[in-house]
Amino acid sequence: MKSMTFIRNKVLLVATMAALAAPAALAGDPPPQYAASCGACHAVGVAGAPATGNADAWAPRLEKGMDVLVASVRNGLNAMPPGGLCNSCSDEDYAALITYMATAQ
Ligand code: HEC
Repeated sequence: MKSMTFIRNKVLLVATMAALAAPAALAGDPPPQYAASCGACHAVGVAGAPATGNADAWAPRLEKGMDVLVASVRNGLNAMPPGGLCNSCSDEDYAALITYMATAQ
């Protein structure tokens, strides 16, 4: 009997670990381009970049409207290079990246 309990606990443990190891589709995950582009500066707020998850830093930016923000990324803005290091991104990709950075927890 003792060994049955042991096995059941082990199965539970493995199931829990599998659940923890599969965060791929969780809501709030960064878009795929984030780590290799925007994140390089926005993760910590390099050179005055509004930091990811800092709602106060993003609030005045969001007031400009998404079209203006996407144009800022496409054209570059001060220390931000044109395209924000993601030249293959579409405008929709930029909008998704901006929304992620402005709302990440
Ligand atoms: C090399 C660093 C760097 C990278 C890479 C970068 N940014 Fe930025 N970003 C900045 C800096 C610095 C600012 C602040 C510019 C300013 O207002 O002077 C900024 C500002 C912004 C703003 C606000 C623009 C505005 O009009 O107020 C948005 C939106 C933005 N970045 C989005 C992105 C996105 C999306 C990416 C990735 C595709 C990205 N950034 C990549 C440095 C970077």
